[in-house]
Amino acid sequence: GMRVGVLTGGGDCPGLNAVLRAVTRKGISVHQHEILGFRSGWLGPVEGLTMPLTLDKVEDILNRGGTILGSSRTNPYKVDDGIARLKATLEENRVDALIAIGGEDTLGVAEQLTHDGVPVVGVPKTIDNDLDATDYTFGFDTAVHIATEAIDRLRTTAESHHRALVVEVMGRHAGWIALHSGLAGGANVILVPEQPFSVEKVCAWVEQRFERQYAPIIVVAEGAVPEGGKELLLTGEKDAFGHVRLGGVGTWLAEEIAARTGKESRAMVLGHVQRGGTPTAYDRVLATRFGLHAIDAITEGDYGKMVALRGTDIVRVPLREATASLKTVPLERYAEAEVLFG
Ligand code: F6P
Repeated sequence: GMRVGVLTGGGDCPGLNAVLRAVTRKGISVHQHEILGFRSGWLGPVEGLTMPLTLDKVEDILNRGGTILGSSRTNPYKVDDGIARLKATLEENRVDALIAIGGEDTLGVAEQLTHDGVPVVGVPKTIDNDLDATDYTFGFDTAVHIATEAIDRLRTTAESHHRALVVEVMGRHAGWIALHSGLAGGANVILVPEQPFSVEKVCAWVEQRFERQYAPIIVVAEGAVPEGGKELLLTGEKDAFGHVRLGGVGTWLAEEIAARTGKESRAMVLGHVQRGGTPTAYDRVLATRFGLHAIDAITEGDYGKMVALRGTDIVRVPLREATASLKTVPLERYAEAEVLFG
């Protein structure tokens, strides 16, 4: 067997623990490997923060959200001596190869590391579903499920009060969560980052809905912007954690709707509730299959690859492809939903 390191980086995501469990169980029982977890994303191997993953350690975590290893957005290439320290940790712990579970940033580091002589296999992760090299990422289905439930609940209170309700969901660059939860929840308007929106048009749909004596639900992705108004909502400022602040499009839009239509309007920002808690069955299955295939890739020495879903098959693609381009909502897909607005 080998000594295999594993870490989870970037924003957490329901299903991460399911990957860790699958990697550990198959790694130990089928391949006779030892599995060494690193805490807090890339910070773990830089600082030497370890957590051995045994069969007991991964018992009862399949359905638990988050990640037992913890996560961070640390980039070892931006830390003083980061790569030297990371390599030293791997050597001290006799780690033969690494499994990195993460999104664009984490996998970008994984790809760079393979060129710097560190054998890595990647597992894609993001609730946003915006990685081009895989059909779906785990966590997305859970996020859509939670957002859909929120829409269902907001609808009954909106109807009772004859109000417009704006739901802001996650998605800075891609509107997949907005599109899918909006379709599932029968939203009366869906707004995505890919298509700048006209406030006039939104208000027309809102009024159309009120005319039929129903309350409008507007689902807006956090990264959606009004036509010509990019500067208005993308402030460009960074918060204390280095995160670029978004302008709060949902709250802004609710106020615009009230001002322009004279109808009562409320906004709710769904936020991190979309990322927390237990993964759906779909996400548990996908995460488990990714984990099983990643440990096989490691065992075969097939480094520099990422596991990915193509149709119903798990395949391996070069890590380079994982970060090459973002998968955004095609405008035809958005137009398909648009006929249902109002
Ligand atoms: O990429 C996942 C994501 O949840 C985005 O949808 C969102 O914009 C961002 O992370 C939020 O990040 P943080 O957890 O740092 O607030």
